[in-house]
Amino acid sequence: MKILVTGGAGFIGSNFIHYLLDRHPDYDVVNLDKLTYAGNLENLQSVSGNSHYSFIKGDIADADLVRGIMDRGMDAIINFAAESHVDRSILEPASFIRTNVLGTQVLLDVARERHLPRFVQISTDEVYGSLGPTGRFTEDTCLCPNSPYSASKASADMIALAYHRTFDLPVLVTRTSNNYGPYQFPEKLLPLVITNLMEDRQVPLYGDGMNVRDWIFVKDNAEAIDLVLHKGKEGEVYNIGAGCESTNLSLIQGVLDVMKKPDSLITYVKDRPGHDRRYAIDPSKIRNILGWSPRTMLQDGLRKTIDWYTKNTDWWKRIKSGEYLKYYEKNYTPKGL
Ligand code: NAD
Ligand code: DAU
Repeated sequence: MKILVTGGAGFIGSNFIHYLLDRHPDYDVVNLDKLTYAGNLENLQSVSGNSHYSFIKGDIADADLVRGIMDRGMDAIINFAAESHVDRSILEPASFIRTNVLGTQVLLDVARERHLPRFVQISTDEVYGSLGPTGRFTEDTCLCPNSPYSASKASADMIALAYHRTFDLPVLVTRTSNNYGPYQFPEKLLPLVITNLMEDRQVPLYGDGMNVRDWIFVKDNAEAIDLVLHKGKEGEVYNIGAGCESTNLSLIQGVLDVMKKPDSLITYVKDRPGHDRRYAIDPSKIRNILGWSPRTMLQDGLRKTIDWYTKNTDWWKRIKSGEYLKYYEKNYTPKGL
């Protein structure tokens, strides 16, 4: 197969490309990425010499560029490209609408023009909105997004499904819970906490710290997406989650324990506006129909992740000394963070 991966220089996209080239060494993978602040070619250094891999710097919203790539005879698009950080979407929503909604529409239109055999839209559990203390999201849960980020992802998700229903475009949608693991940009909770603790800095905890997220190790997500690509049914949505719910406070306490750091390094900060209280994924459909199940549970995955950031200090130190600093100052006000 020849596969166009968009946003492949980001966290999940780069982990997915590593997975794909290992699992299917004969596939050709083209990575189209704009290299925003979140795109990092260092994530793909070890495959840069692989003759089955190529990189193109560009924007998914550039229709002519996407047409040119499709003319190489692609069999599938997997659309990871997005602005992905909720807090940034609250500070500056415009780029989220542009890339996540309009960029996806451009990809869908070119896919339609060129009769692409497979289009996997990478969506998120955040499209469902927030849960109370019980229950889990199924694929039939109504979409009710609360942040500019999740609203832009819900739009793209629904537009992609509409292209299937209206134009018969072979679209599949995945909705995944919070990923963690190697190469995650240190603005997201876990890499931020781990790298701050490695420097004995405070870790910021929003609100009362009791918001719940459902964590999945990124390699398990890559395996699930690969299954959806090959065996999923057109027009269907697949929830992907590992059943690892945790409050943010107990997640951070788990990291403090492994890293042998004191609780006093936690600082409670102003809550995120519109902060969703709880996410939890019901992955029965992908488990029962495609036979997927996660391999890594939270405690094991946390250790692997902490170990990776410990061994790759140059990777995250380069990021934290750059553009990221300006954002950090803008988003977090209390002293000492
Ligand atoms: P990320 O921010 O780490 O990476 C996004 C990548 O997209 C970057 O490499 C960036 O340069 C690229 N990009 C941004 N705008 C682009 C554009 N206009 N054209 C081409 N490339 C562009 O994000 P991530 O955490 O790897 O998330 C990947 C996808 O998975 C996103 O669609 C996100 O909504 C979704 N998702 C993420 C999670 C999670 O926990 N991280 C969970 C569920 C779904
Ligand atoms: O659920 C899937 C989503 O998970 C993806 O669609 C998003 O792209 C991804 O960024 C992630 O969104 P979250 O908002 O859940 O992730 P984040 O790492 O930003 O925050 C996780 C939780 O931790 C959330 O409840 C907010 C809280 N938090 C976050 C940061 C950055 C803090 O308490 N302190 C922080 O400094």
